[in-house]
Amino acid sequence: MNILLTGGAGYIGSHVAITLLEYGHRPVIFDNFVNSTSNVIARIELIVNKTIDCIEGDIRDMPALIKVIKENKIDAVIHLAGLKSVSESNEKPLDYFSVNVGGTISLLQAMKKTGVRHLVFSSSATVYGEPRYLPIDESHPTNPTNVYGETKLQTELILRNLSESDASWKFGCLRYFNPVGAHHSGLIGEAPLGRPNNLMPIIASVAAGERGELKIFGGDYGTKDGTGIRDYVHVMDLARGHLASINYLAKVGSHLVNLGTGMGYSVLEVVGAYQQISCKTIPYSVEKRRSGDVAAVYANTKLAESLLGWRATQNLYEMCATSWAWKSQQSKI
Ligand code: NAD
Ligand code: WQD
Repeated sequence: MNILLTGGAGYIGSHVAITLLEYGHRPVIFDNFVNSTSNVIARIELIVNKTIDCIEGDIRDMPALIKVIKENKIDAVIHLAGLKSVSESNEKPLDYFSVNVGGTISLLQAMKKTGVRHLVFSSSATVYGEPRYLPIDESHPTNPTNVYGETKLQTELILRNLSESDASWKFGCLRYFNPVGAHHSGLIGEAPLGRPNNLMPIIASVAAGERGELKIFGGDYGTKDGTGIRDYVHVMDLARGHLASINYLAKVGSHLVNLGTGMGYSVLEVVGAYQQISCKTIPYSVEKRRSGDVAAVYANTKLAESLLGWRATQNLYEMCATSWAWKSQQSKI
């Protein structure tokens, strides 16, 4: 299949591109590089030993999308382009609604005009808000506590309304938990253009000596060691989830599933695993809780397994090892 991959130069998108190419699909990347660089394209090509098409553009530019869809005879879309910082979303709500919701509407209109009806969407576990029970299944109530989460939930609603209005639309909504790690080659990984906010890139930065210490946000949660628990999922497992989803759309139809491992690890457990695989000491201090954080979040992954036949396979050590391979390689550039 020819697959339009919006945001394909980003962290998750570049790993999805590899998985699609290795399977035999033809991804066409569409990205404005607001949080990525074009260098990643050559690295994807090096890993898979194939060329890949990449077009620079903004998803809010509908005529540009129509042109790309027509010229490349696109069969389906995997839509990852978007803004993803929780804190920034609360400061710049208009930007987040414009790109995440407005950009998706522009994409859907371009698809409508060109007759493309299958789309896989990057949603997030953040749509659930504070957990009422664990593990979180897909029936758990949604109640986002930040603008970013609102944009994801509103986009899901648009997709649901659209498929209810016309059965030819088929959507796969993938609610990711905490994506981490990198391709095992160490050639691509998470490379945010600003300062990272997420735990594993910060730990990597401390291990590489770029930062003095990790600040652990809260040591007084009611968890096994007092630190926050999350469901970290390897980015290559996540990438396989997109392949399963796009293939399921073609064979069966719409779905909404969690993508996580179903296992929760504390901040201290992640630090311990990272120290072990990197042979580096990660100095840390325990600070007050970060506003908006919750004690524990992890997924019930049974639906993804029963519908898509998808299950995460890589453990915490593999997540840390590939993150470290990528980080070590980056510091050599
Ligand atoms: P990323 O920032 O690395 O990738 C997003 C890509 O989209 C970037 O390459 C960026 O340049 C591009 N982009 C942004 N705005 C654009 C626009 N207007 N037009 C075209 N391209 C644009 O982020 P990621 O971690 O790879 O996340 C991919 C998707 O997954 C996002 O939609 C994000 O909200 C979602 N998601 C991410 C996480 C996570 O923790 N990384 C968790 C849940 C969901
Ligand atoms: C993980 C744990 C922190 C940094 C966010 C988004 C979510 C999704 C994934 C996009 C928590 C602790 C972190 C640090 C720390 N993204 N931590 N010190 O908050 O679970 O989820 O990213 O959709 O929507 O909300 O991920 O990596 O920021 O935090 O102690 O410097 O690490 O408190 O317990 P989070 P995270």
